Amino acid sequence: MIKKCLFPVAGYGTRFLPATKSMPKEMLPVVNKPLVQYGVEEAIEAGMNTISFVTGRGKRAITDHFDISYELEHQIAGTGKEAYLDSIRDVLDEGVFTMVRQREMKGLGHAILTGEPLIGNEPFGVVLSDDLCFNEDGDGVLRQMTALYKQFRCSIVAIQEVPPEETHKYGVIAGVALKDGLYRVDDMVEKPKPEDAPSNLAIIGRYILTPDIFDILRATPPGKNGEVQITDALLQQAKTGCVMAYKFKGRRFDCGSVPGFVEATNYVYENIYSEPS
Ligand code: UTP
Repeated sequence: MIKKCLFPVAGYGTRFLPATKSMPKEMLPVVNKPLVQYGVEEAIEAGMNTISFVTGRGKRAITDHFDISYELEHQIAGTGKEAYLDSIRDVLDEGVFTMVRQREMKGLGHAILTGEPLIGNEPFGVVLSDDLCFNEDGDGVLRQMTALYKQFRCSIVAIQEVPPEETHKYGVIAGVALKDGLYRVDDMVEKPKPEDAPSNLAIIGRYILTPDIFDILRATPPGKNGEVQITDALLQQAKTGCVMAYKFKGRRFDCGSVPGFVEATNYVYENIYSEPS
């Protein structure tokens, strides 16, 4: 039902400098796969086969990754090394890839609005690929969210509980619990201090958005840090319509930070990775 997924990948990735000076942070490998490929695989698992990147300068490696590399393919054709390309070949077989450039980094909300021509007038997923999510016991996070969308037909944000001293890193929601792990949002604050946070339920990098969000974003002034914040637009949508927050099943690693990235690498190596054969 939801066919498109937007990947805002235009950010600078300053927390990983100097590694990200000339390489996109989304291409940092967690064991043997770039971060962004994990996100794309999660979207495809959820039935979203059109993958739309909002890229920026210096991000060409991402779009090249989702294309054939003729010279490489030719070199390793017929050798045992071909197995190393299996996962990306599967992704290329199933996905269609589109992209638009965000010329100025005016924030995540602005990046999502920049993706409008690729999405059009339909509900869509959003993945921030520096949040790496796994659910070894069942459906991936986006697939869990699309199942909820079928029921509620409104925007949905994925949330997790965080320690109070970490609320300043996230958009934080307050809402009415409808059932275990599902809330109807009535307040949202971007990166609040612990004393200003309406709860400890933090938004992570998975969203389902209805297309009316674009008009709301167009009318949203720059907020925290002078950036157009998706949190501000979602609060507006919650006030005039409906936004749900969903405590997803599974684990999430903050790969935008060095400790989270290291934790994810160890987890993937021990639990997910297998040597291609
Ligand atoms: P972050 O806040 O993590 O920023 O952006 P960043 O630049 O990627 O990383 P740091 O903080 O400098 O280390 C959240 C997401 O929004 C995208 C980023 O690519 C990331 O996926 N983004 C942010 C854009 O695409 N455009 C923007 O203008 C801002």
